[in-house]
Order: sequence, then structure tokens, then C-alpha cells
Amino acid sequence: MSRAPSDLELRLARAGQEHLLRFWDELEEAQRAELCAELQAMDFEELSIFFQKATEGVRQFSQLEKVDARMEPIPREVLGSATRDQDQLQAWESEGLFQISQNKVAVLLLAGGQGTRLGVSYPKGMYDVGLPSHKTLFQIQAERILKLQQLAEKYHGNKCTIPWYIMTSGRTVESTEESFTRHKYFGLKKENVIFFQQGMLPAMSFDGKIILEEKNKVSMAPDGNGGLYRALAAQNLVEDMEQRGVESVHVYCVDNILVRVADPRFIGFCIHKGADCGAKVVEKTNPTEPVGVVCRVDGVYRVVEYSEISLATAQRRGPDGRLLFSAGNIANHFFTVRFLRDVVSVYEPQLQHHVAQKKIPFVDPQGRLIKPDKPNGIKMEKFVFDIFQFAKKFVVYEVLREDEFSPLKNADSHSGKDNPTTARHALLSLHHRWVLNAGGHFVDGNGSRLPAIPCSAANGRAETVTADANHNLKDAHDVPIQCEISPLVSYAGEGLESYVAGKEFHAPLIIGENGVCELVKDGV
Ligand code: UTP
Repeated sequence: MSRAPSDLELRLARAGQEHLLRFWDELEEAQRAELCAELQAMDFEELSIFFQKATEGVRQFSQLEKVDARMEPIPREVLGSATRDQDQLQAWESEGLFQISQNKVAVLLLAGGQGTRLGVSYPKGMYDVGLPSHKTLFQIQAERILKLQQLAEKYHGNKCTIPWYIMTSGRTVESTEESFTRHKYFGLKKENVIFFQQGMLPAMSFDGKIILEEKNKVSMAPDGNGGLYRALAAQNLVEDMEQRGVESVHVYCVDNILVRVADPRFIGFCIHKGADCGAKVVEKTNPTEPVGVVCRVDGVYRVVEYSEISLATAQRRGPDGRLLFSAGNIANHFFTVRFLRDVVSVYEPQLQHHVAQKKIPFVDPQGRLIKPDKPNGIKMEKFVFDIFQFAKKFVVYEVLREDEFSPLKNADSHSGKDNPTTARHALLSLHHRWVLNAGGHFVDGNGSRLPAIPCSAANGRAETVTADANHNLKDAHDVPIQCEISPLVSYAGEGLESYVAGKEFHAPLIIGENGVCELVKDGV
């Protein structure tokens, strides 16, 4: 192949993207073939429309009056709370487990992100945060699914399946699938783990030119976690759900180590309320915390990013003293399959991409690789919550952050927040509380009971972590009691009494999947 195919040259010329063949003459035959395949697969007209709409959206947005004046908090009637509605939790849980037992619930994992901030070369789900068991995030989630299937069967007498849909991207697909194969699907049935790939989009300069990251390679990135809906449509996955008899789907992010996959309380709550779309949130307690909040704008539900509102709005408080806009979004959602059907067939094309300005490495016209130190282009992304606006009945379920949310975003070396250490500590602290709640106790080397409310201990024996609202470790030396409970033993702290009630333990304590307490000393 000495020249580029003429039809490709023509398409590129029409789209104003001829520069993509700039290095053609310098390329080896195999490199030419690679570049050709990549470009032939691109729909330049569609890309140009995406670019125009997304950048136009940004311009309009900047001209609009601030969103503050149009925001309304979530009305109490659509809000459920794991702390304030304790009298209802049992009923919601029971409903959720019933739905699971009837094979009506699926989970959908968003695992297509690049994990740039964490900075590892493999997918985040394969990350080991350093728990005593060294389980990865994928394994923890798989075992929570297995346990829930067992619980649903135990309470409703029906052997059941929770299908697990896993969205990967060009960046994560191979390693993810390989990891599942190597670990025999972590005990799940292969046919109930359904991988699918989201789309990728090229990075573009501010004037709409596609960026080359190598002479024969376009700079491509996944199209955001809201790429989910286009991928569901393209791969007929809503039909797959319908065929399996699934009616509700729990969608969540790979990086939250505390995620209650297919949480029966959340699912039961949404079903009780007759919702087609729901968001699990955690309370934002600090006005300046950089988290998006779920609220209504012009009467429609959406997530408003912290950068979109003024400090005065972020600081507003309701009569109960809580922040008025306190529903912190954690990308943890409930959708009915019926709603997803409408989304993929009607609404998805109406969603515009968001624009993220990024520092995008590129090859300059002389063929040198440049790593810019300020943003030089954009990536276009859709967000999973973009579809809230189409819900007929939207509900919000608030849970305790320390029980359910600790995301893994950063490397330990780069940030004291949302890193492997904070994730590990969050899980160990939670499991420590489960043991205390089930009537167990921890003792130090002298046999003295450690305080029930954990605090830093003096001589490095049994310390615990305290994290502020932003998950910042207050003291780098704070370490929680080493207590890990396999999800195969307990999904959310239930069923531990027979292992721990009235007993004293020295850390580290591991309650393992064979029903055995390991490293346990001195039952009393
Ligand atoms: P983040 O926005 O935190 O991105 O994703 P990330 O890829 O994990 O990390 P950074 O920003 O590159 O450091 C939140 C969730 O959405 C998923 C991620 O896998 C994670 O579960 N996601 C993100 C996708 O599935 N696809 C995407 O295109 C982007």
C-alpha cells in the first residue's frame, strides 16, 4: 500500500482532517494498515456534529445565568434515608431480596475508565488495596453478588441469579476479561457475567482537529461512563435483560470498595416508591467539598457540579441545619429495564457530550512527541446521570458515607484522599464496626478491651483511622484495627453473631469464606 486509499483521503479532506495522513510517507506498511483501519472505522460527520454540539453547549452554558437561582432541593417525599427511615429498612430489604430471588435484578458495573489518577497500567478492578486477603475490587464485588444470591435464596426459597453486566472499554477490555477467566469468574457462572465494550472517541484540538498521539495512531479515549447507553443499544443488551426477565438494574462504579452491589434496601426502596430511576447519595456536610449534588433544576432532576454553583448556594442550609443541597452524587443508580428501554431507543441520541479540557500528548508537524503542560484540547464524554432528566418518577436514597462510599481515585503518593490506603482503612473500619455490632470485642496485648469507638492507640497496637468528610486521613500514622470479613460470610454485617458474639479477639482478625475465624484467640 503506497498511497492511502483514495476514498479515505476524500473523506478526510471533506471533514477537514487531512493532517491525520501527514506522516503517511514515513510509515512502515504495517503502521499504514493500522492507521487506515483506525480511520476507516471513524464516522467523521458524526464526530463533527458531536464536537459542534458539545462546544456550543459549553458556550451556551457560560452565557446562561448561574444555575443557583433555578435549583431546588430534593423534596422529602422522594427521599429515603438509611438513617432517618430506620423503621422502613426491613420492608425495603425484604422487597429487594424478593425481587432478587425472582431473578428480576441485575447489576451493571462501569469499568471502562482509564484510571489515569491511580496511574496503574491495568484496570482499576484488578487493584489490590492491601487487605489481609489481598482480594481485588473485582473479587470483592463478585463475592457480594454470590452472597446476595444465597441470602435471597435463604429468605425466599428460590435459587436465583443476579446477572452481572460489565462495561469495559478499548483500554480495559482485554485485561478485565483475562482476569475473570484466570480467576474462574470468582465463583460466578460464566454465562451470568456479560462483558460489553463502550465506545471510544478521538481527542480533538480546540478547533476540532483530531489529535495524533503517534504518527500512525489517533489519541482515543472512552466516551465517558454515560457511553453506557449507546453501548447498551449497540449490543442489544436491554433485550438480553428482558429475555432474562430482569426488571431492575443497579448501576455502579468499579472504584468504590464499600459498594453494596445490588443493595436490596436501595432496590426495595425504589420499587416501593414506584420509581423508574433512583440515585443513591451520601450527605455532603462540608459546603466546599468538591462533589456534585443531586437536585432539581427548572423542575427536572440532575446532578449539579460543585463548579457550577456559588459558595453562597453551597453554604445554604435548611430549617434542620443541614446543607440545603446535600445529596452528594456517588454514581450509584437504580433503573428499571423499562426506563432503560426508553433511554436507548428514544433519549440517548438527545444527550450531548460534556467537554473536558485536557493536556493531551501529541505529535507535532515535525513528528516530535509533545507532552503539553497546559490543556491543548478536549475529550468528549457523556455521564451516566445524564438520563435523570427523562425519569417519570425519580427518587433519592441517602446512605452513610462511612458504610457505603470510599472511592479509589488516586495513588497514595499523589494524594492523601481517595487512595488505596483510605479505601483499605474504610473497609477494615467498617468490618471492625460489624464485629462490635454483633457483640464481639477486640483486646490489646494485655487483654484490655479496646474502646468501642475506635481512636488512635498509643503504642501502635490497635489504632484506627479517622477520616474527615473528604476522606483525608487526619494522621498518616492512624491505622484501623485489622479486621476483614469475607463478603461470602456477610454482605452488610448480618449473620456475624454466631462467629463473634461475646468473644474477644486480637487483631488481625479474618473471618474467612470457609466459615472459619482465623487468627482468633481466647474465646470467652
Ligand atoms: P472516573 O470519572 O473516576 O474516571 O470514573 P476513572 O477512569 O476511574 O479515573 P481517572 O479520571 O482517569 O483518574 C468513574 C467510574 O466511571 C467509569 C470508571 O471505570 C469508574 O467506575 N468510567 C469512566 C467508565 O466506565 N467509562 C468512562 O469512559 C469513564
